Amino acid sequence: MNVCILIFAAIKLALGLSDNYFSMEYNKRVSGDGYQYKSVNGVTEISCAYKCSVEINCCVANFDAHSQMCYLDMSGSCYSAPSHEKSWITIRRAREDLFNWAPWSRCSKTCEGGIRTRSHQHATIDNTGDVTSVENCHIFGCNDTVINCNGWKTKGLLDSQTALIEPITSNGIQLQAVEVYCDMEMENGVGVTVIDHDGERDVYVHGYEPHGSYSFIVTYDIPFEHVVAIIDSSQFCRQFVRWKCKGAQIWDIGIQKLNTYWTNRSTAYLATNEYKPPSEFFHGYEERRTCECGISQTCQQSNVLCNCDINDDSWRSDEGYVTNKDALPIVAFFAGDTGN
Ligand SMILES: *[C@@H]1O[C@H](CO)[C@@H](O)[C@H](O)[C@H]1NC(C)=O
Ligand SMILES: *[C@@H]1O[C@H](CO)[C@@H](O)[C@H](O)[C@H]1NC(C)=O
Repeated sequence: MNVCILIFAAIKLALGLSDNYFSMEYNKRVSGDGYQYKSVNGVTEISCAYKCSVEINCCVANFDAHSQMCYLDMSGSCYSAPSHEKSWITIRRAREDLFNWAPWSRCSKTCEGGIRTRSHQHATIDNTGDVTSVENCHIFGCNDTVINCNGWKTKGLLDSQTALIEPITSNGIQLQAVEVYCDMEMENGVGVTVIDHDGERDVYVHGYEPHGSYSFIVTYDIPFEHVVAIIDSSQFCRQFVRWKCKGAQIWDIGIQKLNTYWTNRSTAYLATNEYKPPSEFFHGYEERRTCECGISQTCQQSNVLCNCDINDDSWRSDEGYVTNKDALPIVAFFAGDTGN
């Protein structure tokens, strides 16, 4: 008996009719069975490959040599790595490295089921023209509710867009629906809730000498209670803060006081004229008075923890992300040492 098993062998097979090329990987199978192709005359690996070549969405097929069954994978997952499986043959349309999928289109509907498509700039040895693969998207209901954008992600929202969310506070109180921007691409695999405010711009500050004498109260686009509820229901949160300075110290070494600081959420409920204690840190790190450059040891002079504390005649900048969820959002920004 002559048993010949080809393992890990890939051969190119030219099919005259369609001018398509295929690679065959023996004893291998890609995940996802796909559509089963049957023929009254029976199916061989050749006819399976041929069928795949004439189905516009097929670029890989699984053929079970043992039961002579052919499955066409229409999911567009041509690149998936095959796993070892005896008697199966992975039939791939053209060479993987010749496929170059364009990004998915946006879903045709925002809810209750649309479709999205993608095409590939076709392989140089594949003359069938652009191949398009199609899949269903946004199959959740239009009346569904979620508490933050990651809730939409879980439901299957793919495209970044404004969306309604209904936050629930940490005490379990259901808040009214608000519209936010859901960024579904920024952080791979997570739905990010973006909350805007009126401080997303540079403001020139001059003539405020006493520490904290300049104040900027941040107004968010949605109610403060909603902002807090969204932060509490999120796993990570960050807010950018930047102070560009020229001869304006953050930490006044003489009187041992912060000139420039922000205040955390606990100060939001203090009366307007009441003293708002600064957060003890400038960028959300628990180290006192430490800016981003002080943590990463990249300050422009080695004896300071904030670039602005160099306090000379050059424009300098301290900036970074506050990541302490319990402190966010930033309620107000205060500054001093800008008097002369
Ligand atoms: C969605 O809500 C609207 C208005 O409340 C209602 O008329 C409609 O029947 C709801 N649709 C579904 C699918 O529940
Ligand atoms: C918020 O700021 C207050 C006042 O400085 C401080 O006591 C408190 O610890 C801060 N909260 C958080 C979570 O950092």
